[in-house]
Amino acid sequence: MSTHDGKTLTSSGFYVSQEAPIHTDNPAPTPQATPPDILRCAYMDLVVTDLAASRVFYVDILGLYVTEEDDEAIYLRSTEEFIHHNLVLRQGPIAAVAAFSYRVRTPEDLDRAVAFYSEIGCRVERRPEGWTKGIGDSVRVVDPRGSPCEFCHQAGRVGRLAWRSALRPPGELGRLGHFNQAPPDVPRAVKWTRDLGFRVTEDIQDDEGTVYAAWMRRKPTVHDTAMTGGDGPRMHHIAFSTHEKHNILAVCDKLGALRRSDAIERGPGRHGVSNAFYLYLRDPDGHRVEIYTQDYYTGDPDNPVVTWDVHDNQRRDFWGNPVVPSWYTDASLVLDLDGNPQPVLARTEASEMAVTIGADGFSYTRPDDDEPMPEYKQGEYKLGNQL
Ligand SMILES: [Fe+2]
Repeated sequence: MSTHDGKTLTSSGFYVSQEAPIHTDNPAPTPQATPPDILRCAYMDLVVTDLAASRVFYVDILGLYVTEEDDEAIYLRSTEEFIHHNLVLRQGPIAAVAAFSYRVRTPEDLDRAVAFYSEIGCRVERRPEGWTKGIGDSVRVVDPRGSPCEFCHQAGRVGRLAWRSALRPPGELGRLGHFNQAPPDVPRAVKWTRDLGFRVTEDIQDDEGTVYAAWMRRKPTVHDTAMTGGDGPRMHHIAFSTHEKHNILAVCDKLGALRRSDAIERGPGRHGVSNAFYLYLRDPDGHRVEIYTQDYYTGDPDNPVVTWDVHDNQRRDFWGNPVVPSWYTDASLVLDLDGNPQPVLARTEASEMAVTIGADGFSYTRPDDDEPMPEYKQGEYKLGNQL
């Protein structure tokens, strides 16, 4: 192992360090108030333009369980969940995210959320009756990343379906795994999210210190949310976790059998970052959904941060399979608290796609090889090679 800039190169090809080597010269103000004690990502409030078509995708195909529904919204949960929902599908005019919702430890943490965001002038709106069915007193804000976030504690309790084996399909979605956001300025977004009490678990950088992405957690997994650099603020994906890899393969087989394979955007595959097994789907509105399993425990306070080189061809797919360009470019709009789309700002730093795909991009499998990767493996960095 060798050490460089406080990071230690491991035999796995990535670096580890104690604190994420991410710094910003453009920080949002840090509130003096104590942040709310966030437990985990809890649910996404997602606007869809054809509720019936979305119901087919999320209920009939993916097997999420309907807790409650009416003409305007469907409230869905995964099989291990005991609160009312993990996903709200809400009929609306523009496909977009209305809120990324986090559950906090105590009712008093809602007071802390109000004070924390109000101190720096963010828009804050608290609804004692809740913003959705099944959720009580909750606070929504537009945060310094431009994202609509919710903090909630009271939630209707429903039965865990974990023991209801007859209800568990081969492609069972067991838990809400994480959100993934697209901010234009990743170090700024990371600083803010650290101020909110999250820890970085992994990131992607280059030798010049440009940060392309970072993964951040509250619960002891690799992440509750991630920052994938891009034009934004936008939502890159929502992820549900399965127990086993075979559950993900069952989703693929079902999509094939139904002649819905065009919903598969990328994968299945093994991530380098997080070491998880993955599949990316696109719903009828183009919202991206990841099915994910088997990342690792991160709960110790000295959990090492993993830093990947952006040119490492195994960072996004451990088997070196190419990332499709749409995965880098496409994402969903996010809304303000009145339901209007937040303006999208262009990323000004180099994009991960530009430095790994196309004329100026390059990637490696072994960093010390003088030879380029074989022609058949150059899809990652030669646009059109995978066509
Ligand atoms: Fe993800």
